Amino acid sequence: MNEPFAKLNYHLADVHLDIHSLASIKEHRRLQRYGVAAMRQFDDYKPIVATTYKGLEEDRQKALKQLPQEVLKLEEPDVWVFCMEGDGYLPVHVDPDRLCAINFYFDCSGEQTRFFKHEDGQLSVVGSFVAEHGDCYLFNTSVPHDVNIKPNSPRKIFSLTFKTIDYDTLLEMLK
Ligand SMILES: [Fe+2]
Repeated sequence: MNEPFAKLNYHLADVHLDIHSLASIKEHRRLQRYGVAAMRQFDDYKPIVATTYKGLEEDRQKALKQLPQEVLKLEEPDVWVFCMEGDGYLPVHVDPDRLCAINFYFDCSGEQTRFFKHEDGQLSVVGSFVAEHGDCYLFNTSVPHDVNIKPNSPRKIFSLTFKTIDYDTLLEMLK
């Protein structure tokens, strides 16, 4: 099985990340069963609330230009902007509305993204990475994951959202 993340050599600058100028799509508040398991299993595991916003079309076009044509023929992904802030964890979850994502990271402060397997009610870490400002990762959002958020350090992700191409297929196409 492939690792659930892969660093990509894509870069994106000057995109609109000021959340006050973007339309909010939804707040992530409800714990999934993985989040419930994490609250039981880990000490001092305080959930934070993340909000998803719709990215601007001009920025989406900038990002899409970097993708291979064969990918765009299958799917032209939407762009979501995530803002995560607080002191705690975006609790373990799978993304309900998509299969995988290409994430561009901004305003990072050493947060660790972890991936888990969930067996017999127990979570165990199967991989992790620490993204830095400007990094880009292909992300398997169908594998349970969490991230720790540092106080007073809002972090943002400009995220190309794939609803029909799965992670393994996209990874193969981007190699
Ligand atoms: Fe997620």
